[in-house]
Amino acid sequence: MNTKKPLKIAVLPGDGIGIEVTHAAIEVFKALDIPVQLNFGDIGWTNWQHEGNPIPDKTWKLIAESDTTLLGAITSKPQREATNELDPRLQKDKPVYLSPIIQLRQKLDLFANIRPGFSIINQNKQFNFCVIRENTEGLYSGFDYHPVPKELLQLLEQNPRWQNKSADELSCSLRLQSKAGLTRLFEFAFSHAVTHQINRVTFADKPNVLRKSGHFAREIFESIAHQYPQITSDILNIDAVALWLIKRPEDFGVIVTENMFGDILSDVGAGVMGGLGLAPSANIGQQESYFEPVHGSGPQMSPNTANPGAMFLTISMLLLHFGFAEPAKRITKALGAVIQENRFVTYDLGGKATTSDMAKAVIDRCVDQQQKATSKINNDISMTQYLKKLKTFTTAEISDALDSCGIEGALCHIKPLTPGIKLAGPAYTIQYETNQKKSSSFKNAANYIDAVPANSVIVIDNKGLQDCTVWGEILTQVAMKNHIEGTVVHGAVRDVESIRKTNYPLFCSATSMRSGKNRVHKTNQQCPLMINDIPINPGDIIFGDDNGALVIPKQLLPELLNRAERIKLTEQRIAAAVKSGSTLEQAREDYGYAQPWAGINKTKDNL
Ligand code: NAI
Ligand code: MG
Repeated sequence: MNTKKPLKIAVLPGDGIGIEVTHAAIEVFKALDIPVQLNFGDIGWTNWQHEGNPIPDKTWKLIAESDTTLLGAITSKPQREATNELDPRLQKDKPVYLSPIIQLRQKLDLFANIRPGFSIINQNKQFNFCVIRENTEGLYSGFDYHPVPKELLQLLEQNPRWQNKSADELSCSLRLQSKAGLTRLFEFAFSHAVTHQINRVTFADKPNVLRKSGHFAREIFESIAHQYPQITSDILNIDAVALWLIKRPEDFGVIVTENMFGDILSDVGAGVMGGLGLAPSANIGQQESYFEPVHGSGPQMSPNTANPGAMFLTISMLLLHFGFAEPAKRITKALGAVIQENRFVTYDLGGKATTSDMAKAVIDRCVDQQQKATSKINNDISMTQYLKKLKTFTTAEISDALDSCGIEGALCHIKPLTPGIKLAGPAYTIQYETNQKKSSSFKNAANYIDAVPANSVIVIDNKGLQDCTVWGEILTQVAMKNHIEGTVVHGAVRDVESIRKTNYPLFCSATSMRSGKNRVHKTNQQCPLMINDIPINPGDIIFGDDNGALVIPKQLLPELLNRAERIKLTEQRIAAAVKSGSTLEQAREDYGYAQPWAGINKTKDNL
């Protein structure tokens, strides 16, 4: 149960396919039991037509009261159509249509528009880039003129090419960029790269043509890039980036760019990813945010045919932004699986599924994945209980139980280094090979250790070699810190004295003082091993005590425990019978010594 306050999301489905994809995809919150509170609000063309305002006041209030906003899509039309379609009783006030998208971005100061692009259709070609577009300045800063104002005309007069033109013959847009605006944009781009583990940031601009403004932006970019020496940074021409993004998307990481360049480039990115039906976006400011698919309201489209994929990925971005990484990943993975399966996909992906069919397939897949994950956790819980039970036995009892199943599990040449310890846990296997070439530099042979899950038993196969070691004091310290259960080595170990002091469960076939560095190297991990004819698969249970160590095939553990229990009882009864005067032969016969796992002899005991 999550006891945190639910995340408040203002859900604004908007117009056209925005409404369809929103309603189809938001079901995923309930299906995955994500702690959110969805509050619905109105936005879009109908509000403009009937109220002269595409974002009613109560919607602004809802946005202000929410943690974030999820938007479907909105129909926007040029001013002439906007006025014509307005309710006649509102026309006399001559309201000006302002795009609600622009209003949201400006009012909430959402300066960064993030549009990721990753391989979801063709998973053989892996790429993962992200266009970060400046949202509030640049060519869309709002200084767009026709006719050109007097002040600008005076400026143009100074240039012979533009002299003697009337204001009406000219139009002009300013690419306005501020030091503060560029600084926060680039800082955001680099920090996004760090948090998303992306190691390249490209600034896409046109500095060879827009020389002054390009130089101004470049200096700011470079000064921020300087603070992130671990990230490769570069400045490329926007047109070249558009070309290379199509040809080699796998080369790019974060691409940061001004407003209009970003508008165009992010649509290129959407195309590379598989079309508008799959492109998500986030708009982020210092405090506020809103999330929406890149596509519009799709007025040309037939009802219930839109791909809900972009909305699912948008919800995934929202969840990731607010720290719900697990369901975020699950949604993306489920969508990828539905696309790969190719059964429930919409027309744009070559299928015939409706919006609701595809959304249902994605949600079913999410739930399926979640159930699998939960049953894995449940399995892990019962595994913990089984291992606890296993430790109540000796290897001799378990070996008998293995014998009763006709399984040879004993690792006969492997002995404990320290007496009095018990070891039980799933195997994490490591394979070593002898080096053919000698080298004077040390090679990191134990770089697997941080990948070993807690409570595992490391099983190292060094082919029983006694002339060099593959385990020592440092590895023991790391293993203990990582809560690794113990180590079994088919080969030699060293630092015997200090390891004994730690009581770390170490089992080996020999001890030596000669380092394995440069003599052997790790060739494989989590692979099947064969040690003295005993097969060991990753996850098989290793059990060890003073008698030695043995391997239990994972799936057999419950049955073996059952048999070991009965064997133990039979032996206790035989011992008790002998103590109270029975002959050993008689007691063995009475208590079914020949098949102790079959249960207690019925004639003597009805337990
Ligand atoms: P659009 O994105 O609505 O549709 C263009 C075409 O892309 C569609 O005809 C369809 O072939 C394809 N498409 C888009 N979304 C799809 C999906 N989910 N599944 C399958 N195919 C899909 O762009 P359009 O037609 O230029 O604009 C329509 C309206 O939407 C306009 O009023 C425009 O202003 C508005 N718009 C709103 C946006 C927003 O809300 N952020 C963004 C883009 C456009
Ligand atoms: Mg666009």
